[in-house]
Amino acid sequence: ASGDTKNSENGSDVLTVGFSQVGAESDWRTANSESMKDTFSSENGYELIFDDAQQKQENQITAIRNFIQQEVDYILLAPVTETGWDTVLQEAKDADIPVIIVDRMVDVSDDDLYTTWIGTDSLQEGRKAADWLNQYAEAKEVKPEELNIVNIQGTIGSTAQIGRTKGLEEGVEKYGWNLLAQQTGEFTQAKGQEVMESMLKQYDNINVVYCENDNEAFGAIDAIEAAGKTVGGDIKNGEIAVISFDTTNAGLTDTLSGKIACDVECNPLHGPRAEELIKKLEAGEEVEKLNYVAEEIFTHGNDVAKVKAVNSLGDEEEFEVTQITQEIL
Ligand code: AHR
Repeated sequence: ASGDTKNSENGSDVLTVGFSQVGAESDWRTANSESMKDTFSSENGYELIFDDAQQKQENQITAIRNFIQQEVDYILLAPVTETGWDTVLQEAKDADIPVIIVDRMVDVSDDDLYTTWIGTDSLQEGRKAADWLNQYAEAKEVKPEELNIVNIQGTIGSTAQIGRTKGLEEGVEKYGWNLLAQQTGEFTQAKGQEVMESMLKQYDNINVVYCENDNEAFGAIDAIEAAGKTVGGDIKNGEIAVISFDTTNAGLTDTLSGKIACDVECNPLHGPRAEELIKKLEAGEEVEKLNYVAEEIFTHGNDVAKVKAVNSLGDEEEFEVTQITQEIL
């Protein structure tokens, strides 16, 4: 990647950035969009062309083609799923426009089709949750074979879904938990609720629901309460423990009250991080291909102090589990 952009060729101080956003399916996504808009504002010297794809890949492909036609300086892409990007990324490459992938990853035939990626480690997030659940069950004196888990998955084929589902499935394999059902909740509250309602009708012995984001968790909690059951950590006595990802403000508020037992961070504030990469590219500096953001894990009580989880690069890391308090919120 080089700093030889159209912007510098034109001698203009304003950088034009096209951002293809997945949609507005979750609170996390709203925070992510705001972070991008705040960073790439006219006050900061940018012209941002923001496109909301409403969770549809074809809309993202159209948006990228429009950005190419408009000869933007940079394309930022938050891809809905990992596959299906080769053709349009080749078109951006042919037009000499650097592409920065944000949040989820792309699975392409040639990694040179994009310049760099910034995001979080979804597989490690899932592994953290699995290690937490193993220790939590031990602390509650619940045997592995007594754990009856349902999994409300994210958008199928997205990095966040692939990694978090894999983290859970590895735990099922390793510890011998019962995985009763898996179905997508599309990362939305409405679908999370609908899926949980149908799972509760099908199974009367669920004691853990593993939701792949906070909005699905909010929907699942509503469904559990509407069915006359209780969310919480007393899984020996019929309560259902909710595991979630994102740590949105509302998610951590539910963790403080005990409605969510464990919330694994997925940080959405990628605007300044993407800008840092652009500044380096503008200066003609090399950037790392993959840029992982460090993240934490939060829980309601103090049953689990630390979790261990191998990251996507193969290194084992240890994390303190933070017991959520009013001060943290
Ligand atoms: O890709 C990140 C995921 O997408 C977040 O967990 C979820 O809330 C969002 O919709």
